[in-house]
Amino acid sequence: MFTAPRSDEIFTEQRLTPRRFQPDPAFREDVLNGLAQAGKAIPARWFYDMRGSQLFEAITQVPEYYPTRTETALLHGHAAAVAERLGADATVVEFGSGSSIKTRILLKALPRATYVPIDICGEFLDEACLALQGLFPALRIVPVEADFMNPVSLPLRREGRAMLGFFPGSTIGNLTPFAAVDLLRSMRETLGEQAHLLIGIDRVKDPARLVSAYDDAGGVTALFNLNLLQRINRELGGTIPVGEFRHVARWNEDASRIEMHLQARRAIRFEVAGQAFHMESGETIHTENCHKYRPGEIRLLLAASGWGEVEHWSDAGGDFSLVLAQGGGD
Ligand code: TRP
Repeated sequence: MFTAPRSDEIFTEQRLTPRRFQPDPAFREDVLNGLAQAGKAIPARWFYDMRGSQLFEAITQVPEYYPTRTETALLHGHAAAVAERLGADATVVEFGSGSSIKTRILLKALPRATYVPIDICGEFLDEACLALQGLFPALRIVPVEADFMNPVSLPLRREGRAMLGFFPGSTIGNLTPFAAVDLLRSMRETLGEQAHLLIGIDRVKDPARLVSAYDDAGGVTALFNLNLLQRINRELGGTIPVGEFRHVARWNEDASRIEMHLQARRAIRFEVAGQAFHMESGETIHTENCHKYRPGEIRLLLAASGWGEVEHWSDAGGDFSLVLAQGGGD
């Protein structure tokens, strides 16, 4: 696919270069199209500017948001088993690395690993890499600023080492099942046939618990959702009256998912990039889906994508699953 660099030719210095702010033309296009359609919706990836990435990290700490705590405990319990299967010098490729906090647990068990964090927010990625390098001075880090929803070609060659994709946080649940299969298949292509994948997936449970995880009493998730409107105002010259919107999280039983919306409290008009928009009182902008799965559905989703389940770990309450899978012949 690409000419393979030697191990000393990988590009790590880019993370030390300061970046100048540039509004993303794709952001403008997604927002204008998303607001013009009948059911208003904006793709969730635009949540993650610097402030959005920070607010997201804050969500993972709120008491109602159980997934991070539960998955972290599962990683502590099973990182050694993963390392034993993969070997200590495995290459770990993380899709949507954020702060790389959970990754530390894994990397502790893989002292000679190469770490390839992929994240859409370059500024946040830089900070996370610097922090991680401080903690693991010998770790080889190869950051990639990219949207992992598009195929990513890795800037290193496999060198015969075991490849481990890492996709924690139930991020797979943010895709529809159809898109999830596409992504899982493309990960298999990115990582290679015999690669492993360590993936965290949130489970179906009492809807009241699910809703409160996405609508915490402290209002952090609300701030995160509303930050999207502030970002539009800031970067696209919007005049959205952010205070006239409320954060809504609802359980959609048929689709087995939590939906996040931004709901207009009254009829409003605003402009974005010079274009006029109107919303009825109670109308919403759909901003995120978080699909929840049962264990058998997880196995099926993976199998449909060319991944065979090797281990399926879960907490005693069955709130969350951590699955180790391996690609192989179909
Ligand atoms: N993927 C995680 C989840 O669905 C984290 C996440 C993504 C999230 N978008 C979010 C959490 C929006 C809260 C709000 O839980």
